[in-house]
Amino acid sequence: MFVKKVVPSFVKNSRREKSIQIEFFTYEGRFKVSAPSGKSKGKTEVVSYNSNGIAGSMRMLKSFCPTLKHKNFIVKKIDDLKQITDLMRKFETKKNKFGGNVNYAMEGAFLKAAAADNGKELWEFINDDVNGGAKPKMPMPVGNCIGGGLHSKTINGKKPDFQEFLLIPREKTFSRAVTLNLRAYRLAKRLLGARKTNDENSWMTDKSNEEVLGILKSVAKKYKLRIGIDLAASTFYKNGYYNYKNKNLIRDRVDQADYVEKLTKKFDIFYLEDGMDEGDFSGFKQILDGIEKVKKSKTLIIGDDLTTTNLKLVRRAVNSKSINALIVKPNQIGSILEVKQVVEFCKKKNIIMIFSHRSGETMDDTLADYCVGFGGQFIKAGIFGRERLIKLKRVMDIEKRLK
Ligand code: PGA
Ligand code: ZN
Repeated sequence: MFVKKVVPSFVKNSRREKSIQIEFFTYEGRFKVSAPSGKSKGKTEVVSYNSNGIAGSMRMLKSFCPTLKHKNFIVKKIDDLKQITDLMRKFETKKNKFGGNVNYAMEGAFLKAAAADNGKELWEFINDDVNGGAKPKMPMPVGNCIGGGLHSKTINGKKPDFQEFLLIPREKTFSRAVTLNLRAYRLAKRLLGARKTNDENSWMTDKSNEEVLGILKSVAKKYKLRIGIDLAASTFYKNGYYNYKNKNLIRDRVDQADYVEKLTKKFDIFYLEDGMDEGDFSGFKQILDGIEKVKKSKTLIIGDDLTTTNLKLVRRAVNSKSINALIVKPNQIGSILEVKQVVEFCKKKNIIMIFSHRSGETMDDTLADYCVGFGGQFIKAGIFGRERLIKLKRVMDIEKRLK
């Protein structure tokens, strides 16, 4: 792969914040990837940018990218990424790092260019490497329908404490699943009487967690969907207590685990993300144990802030039986090589993988290629809004190609 040039630039994300885009120019074309940004981030995520912020990362890129000009890389598999990551690590100093979001954009653009050099699309290049080219199974979408927590503003001074109320179809095709989520999303608007959407284009409301779950349940029933929640529990946890505002009360960790179990049973929740604080592996385990005992159908007990796509934490969570499913957000760890190791580990241990967007998203659809290529069972990329739909559409395009 002969690199003509590599160009860094700023792009705006869905929150109108600046993000980094990297563009590779080769004889096969132009290949660009931009990075998303989280708001309810896990404590153990890598730092997104240089210690001088995004401007510091850009200054580094302005001197690093020209050094890639006219370089020739031989890239046949994902592990060959090392050629670019080694150069990046060598360029960094102890104090001056690119940051996880820059790594994400650089590695993605490099991989897309490399895939094209091999006559493949990115998902294909990855799938050939990690799944030996077997025909991939399409993921199902996990769609954020109603929002609360850090991603939402209050309505009449209130909002749900839980961050995301999700819809999860079970359909033969991805495109049908996306259509159903969109219909359900419109019905939810009506039932809630909602008018405004939040960071991820889910509906904002003044209703309580349980009122919202009731509405979500009836929407799901109409379209035969499953439901889920991302509590993002760390965002309302402080000094040993979960501080609920809507309705106003405090739960300690034992109460919290009991409450989450009770909700899961009552509303037949299929998908449960970050039900406990991000450091509380044994709390997650208590929920998983408890739910397995009382509920016949499977519930996914999912780590996001708990595990931050970090192999060490994923191992700890899986080996201690704290989770049976995992959020994969490549920019949490800022290394596709580590994502690959996480994926291999999850496959070995039968852990369900949900490839996920961030609340601040760009017009980039690389997440879809990662999900299909690595073999994620679910893709969490919202329901509506251009930054969300572009990813869903990319999965639909791949699905069409595979028919
Ligand atoms: P974030 O949240 O992208 O704002 O970190 C998303 C999530 O918690 O799943
Ligand atoms: Zn989450």
